[in-house]
Amino acid sequence: MIENLRIEPVAETRPVVLPDSLGFGRVFTDRMFTQRYEAGRGWHDATIGPYRPITLDPATTVYHNGQMIFDGTKAYRRDDGNINLFRTALNAERFNESATRMGMPAVDVEAHVAAITELVRLEHRWVPDRPGTALYIRPVMIATEKTLEVRASREYLHYVILSPVAPYFADGFAPVSVYVSDDYVRAVRGGTGEAKTPGNYAGSVAATEVALAKGYQQVLWLDGVERRYIDEVGAMNIAFVIDGREIVTPTLTGAILKGITRRSLLELAPDLGYPVEERRITIDEVLEGLATGRISEIFGMGTGAVIAPVGRLHYRGDDIRVRDGQPGPVATRLYEELTGLQYGRRPDPYGWTTTIDVTAAGFASGAGA
Ligand SMILES: Cc1ncc(COP(=O)(O)O)c(C=O)c1O
Repeated sequence: MIENLRIEPVAETRPVVLPDSLGFGRVFTDRMFTQRYEAGRGWHDATIGPYRPITLDPATTVYHNGQMIFDGTKAYRRDDGNINLFRTALNAERFNESATRMGMPAVDVEAHVAAITELVRLEHRWVPDRPGTALYIRPVMIATEKTLEVRASREYLHYVILSPVAPYFADGFAPVSVYVSDDYVRAVRGGTGEAKTPGNYAGSVAATEVALAKGYQQVLWLDGVERRYIDEVGAMNIAFVIDGREIVTPTLTGAILKGITRRSLLELAPDLGYPVEERRITIDEVLEGLATGRISEIFGMGTGAVIAPVGRLHYRGDDIRVRDGQPGPVATRLYEELTGLQYGRRPDPYGWTTTIDVTAAGFASGAGA
């Protein structure tokens, strides 16, 4: 519990009935966390209450200058019925880094994590237990002052909602196809690429539509200046397996999201015997590596998909198969190890997981899905 966190009663909680095809972020739970900020007063009115619409004046600044951030983490159903959170404090720290970049106030990391923990504990019935599923946790902050002036808002709303989800890609741990965008760019150093702010995603929609229309699932972004260096995929960081063992991933230049899955895999991989290197890597090196066989695997890394092997890549009219469209051994091993930790199927020597005990007295067990 956190001090000053008000828990409002929720009049009606629904039975947890999840559709067979759960999708990603279509179903939401009965409760949400909210707190408000005013300049000079700070954060106040921390509340867990019913999930409900937010009503804002049409002149509210978020609708005009887009001052808004979000983040994403997951709660995982363990085999014993309890629930694991995974490195939630890192998400809270990244949320604050995004806030700073967008001229917004930071939240208290401990209070943010405590609010998430309490919300998930109250909504534990919604953590699904089908393979690959989880409860997605979406913290958001929006600027709520009524003004058309382009400057930092003096008022904000911070909220957290929860959504039981299937893996981001419908086929789960199966290869995805990526389209290298040669004309649009996502971010440049000094811009907002490192912040989790909607403008980055809105700016990627047109390119994603092109990719989808051509039969690819995600856009692979090159750097915004020279358009040679690999940055990241739509909602994932990216890595390449060189000489069968070494994992190479682009350096965090400021234009790339600092993925928590990326960071976890970079920390985990050496313990599994895979050396890692963070460096800039050009699209030409990737194409040559695929042609010579030096690059044997490509995979995306992110909370939604965990690890998504890349089976096909499009660049300037060429469609290049990777591993004949099959997942590789390195991605498969990393997927098993990381999900093993997240779902509590393996001991966690890193201290990355926090278990919420919901099978104790007072909480009925059963995922309900
Ligand atoms: C643009 C982008 N890159 C990378 C990631 C992966 O980050 P994480 O592993 O923290 O989910 C995400 C997902 O949040 C993303 O949206």
